[in-house]
Amino acid sequence: MMYSEKVLDHFRNPRNVGEIEDADGVGSVGNPVCGDVMSIYIKVKDDKIEDIKFKTFGCGAAIATTSMTTELAKGKTLDEAMTITRQDVADELGGLPPVKMHCSNLAADALHEAIENYRGKKK
Ligand code: FES
Repeated sequence: MMYSEKVLDHFRNPRNVGEIEDADGVGSVGNPVCGDVMSIYIKVKDDKIEDIKFKTFGCGAAIATTSMTTELAKGKTLDEAMTITRQDVADELGGLPPVKMHCSNLAADALHEAIENYRGKKK
């Protein structure tokens, strides 16, 4: 299986790993295909994602895609971040092997869930 240099880079040096203690929103999802799990934490200010971190019990592709997702989402408005798809993330990484595309679902889903969690709390 061939991974792009960017995937390998994000796997070896994942960005924004960790947990935000006083997060404004948290999204936790599981991957039905493999059973891996992922959580994304966000801090929101002026309707923008000011800080974002993630924790995963998942494969290398899940780590790399989530790392890239957090990079894409940081600084974006919540509406912009809601439009980030797994395809955007895979494209930004220079592609993923087809059998690994399901891994990138986790990141986008967890991000969207964290935003919905934040919005739900505000109501
Ligand atoms: Fe589970 Fe990749 S194999 S997320």
